[in-house]
Amino acid sequence: MSDADRPSRMTEAFFGRRRGKPVRPQQAAALESGLGKYRLDLVAAAPPDLRVLFEAKVSAVRLEIGFGGGEHLLHRAIEAPATGFIGVEPFVNGMAKMMMAVRAAPLANLRVYDDDATQLLDWLPPASLDGLDLLYPDPWPKKKHWKRRFVSPVNLDRFARVLKPGSKFRFASDIDTYVNWTLLHCRAHGAFAWQAADAADWHRSYEGWPGTRYEAKAIREGRQPAYLTFVRT
Ligand SMILES: C[S@@+](CC[C@H](N)C(=O)[O-])C[C@H]1O[C@@H](n2cnc3c(N)ncnc32)[C@H](O)[C@@H]1O
Repeated sequence: MSDADRPSRMTEAFFGRRRGKPVRPQQAAALESGLGKYRLDLVAAAPPDLRVLFEAKVSAVRLEIGFGGGEHLLHRAIEAPATGFIGVEPFVNGMAKMMMAVRAAPLANLRVYDDDATQLLDWLPPASLDGLDLLYPDPWPKKKHWKRRFVSPVNLDRFARVLKPGSKFRFASDIDTYVNWTLLHCRAHGAFAWQAADAADWHRSYEGWPGTRYEAKAIREGRQPAYLTFVRT
């Protein structure tokens, strides 16, 4: 799909496709039952302590924005059953894939939201998250589209509001201009300290990193991933 074919702006920060191939009947059934079980209802006020949102007893809550097919989210949620994970993905086919996986193996420490992450961020109480992952956000490589990038002063304000002091914001990308963009915006914002121990640091993947589907494609196409970690000061 070319940029010109993309649907016009539908929400504040979502400019991508909502749907790809038609979902198969089995996926449609998994979507319906999965969203019924895992989807967060933003009409109700958010609880002051997000841990109560989960069926499992959890001690921390993390957010992943734009989880795609959910490969990374699933891996993290299985690896850390005592952490609650909220995943956001407006692309129906990605959400369907994730819901198929949790239909086969349900997770008591998962909740999802299927629309623009800015809506969820504004719903969350202040200082309520123990971590936030933005992994391979839509790159918008053309300069005229840079303003569509999820990292922006207004969204960094949102991150700063919902992250607990000392918690981490992680950003991975294979697009050099987006990596520089994020470093510059975080530095200018003031609430995020970049954690890089040495020059090689930003090419070292995160601990226990399973990779993502988009990352595998980037590597196949010869682009090098960068992994940034910022601490909410
Ligand atoms: C390039 S893909 C990467 C997917 C996945 N993180 C990976 O690495 O395989 C970016 C994803 O972000 C999602 N996305 C774009 N804008 C978003 C928004 N405003 N809120 C939540 N997700 C968004 C897209 O639907 C898409 O699935």
